Amino acid sequence: MEEIRFKNKVAVVTGAGGGLGKAYALLLAARGARVVVNDLGGTFDGSGADATPAQQVVDEIKAAGGEAVPNYDSVADWDSAQNIIKTAIESYGQIDILINNAGILRDKSLLKMELEDYRKIMSVHLDGTFYCTKAAFAPMKEQAYGRIVSTASAAGLYGNFGQANYGAAKMGIAGMMNCVAQEGARYNIKANTIVPTAGTRLTFTVMPEDVIGKIKPEFVAPIVAWLCSEQCQETAKMFSAGGGYFSRAAVVEGEGYIFDSDKEITIEMISEKIEQIMDLKGAREFASAMEQAGTVMSKMIAQ
Ligand code: NAI
Repeated sequence: MEEIRFKNKVAVVTGAGGGLGKAYALLLAARGARVVVNDLGGTFDGSGADATPAQQVVDEIKAAGGEAVPNYDSVADWDSAQNIIKTAIESYGQIDILINNAGILRDKSLLKMELEDYRKIMSVHLDGTFYCTKAAFAPMKEQAYGRIVSTASAAGLYGNFGQANYGAAKMGIAGMMNCVAQEGARYNIKANTIVPTAGTRLTFTVMPEDVIGKIKPEFVAPIVAWLCSEQCQETAKMFSAGGGYFSRAAVVEGEGYIFDSDKEITIEMISEKIEQIMDLKGAREFASAMEQAGTVMSKMIAQ
């Protein structure tokens, strides 16, 4: 198979000063992309700022013969997020790839979670992804090419104790990419979501040391890079990756049960049919909300 390369491509990777983002930036640069290495450089809970991590990754890329520039802006503010994308345009004249990866944690059980913990997580993850995507979308549309990969989490897809803030933001990101994918379809802009598992400073505290060593960020990077490639024609998809495991995750809807909507539908009727309503045998994915609505309409008409 021909080697997949990123010749003449410019990538922005947010939160690329360490962990997963660093692995993505190094891989893309090694395959020929010019990379904006963005990182605010704060602590894992979002306090502080430090230019060192982004600069170090840029130095590492350059030492290996690649091209990169640092950017130290926060994704969580509209002006500074625009500046991240502007760095790509001003340094390299274009942006082809955006990896929304920057992230922090503020885990607490619901009752102990301060509103600030909720808002901070929403602003870095959900707002940050929206701001960077919005800023990158215009030049991508203009050149009729773009690859966007955003970062969700199993905590959002499946739930996790103490992560109501993070889970909400992460599932919101998956929903955002579903919509961005539709808007990008006409312009060859693909938008997908990665659901990673890796040993990084975000997981050091919750995973045993021997497991951490086996789930290096480098094991997630190949599928993220593939999603950033010209070869990738997938869009609006979610992929789980970690420790050598790769799989697609999806939202599906069951066949369901349809009542006669000319008559009253009571709570007891729901109770009686709950097993059929819950049954996922024959469940399917929908390519859009319109397709789902059309399917429900046809069931109503057929009923
Ligand atoms: P990490 O802490 O090593 O990397 C995150 C980077 O984002 C840090 O370098 C940090 O300085 C940067 N950052 C934080 N806030 C920022 C802001 N406002 N603007 C710019 N940069 C900022 O953590 P890791 O694990 O590499 O996380 C990467 C992404 O993957 C995050 O979105 C995280 O939520 C997600 N994730 C990670 C999982 C894992 O197993 N490590 C599991 C599921 C999701």
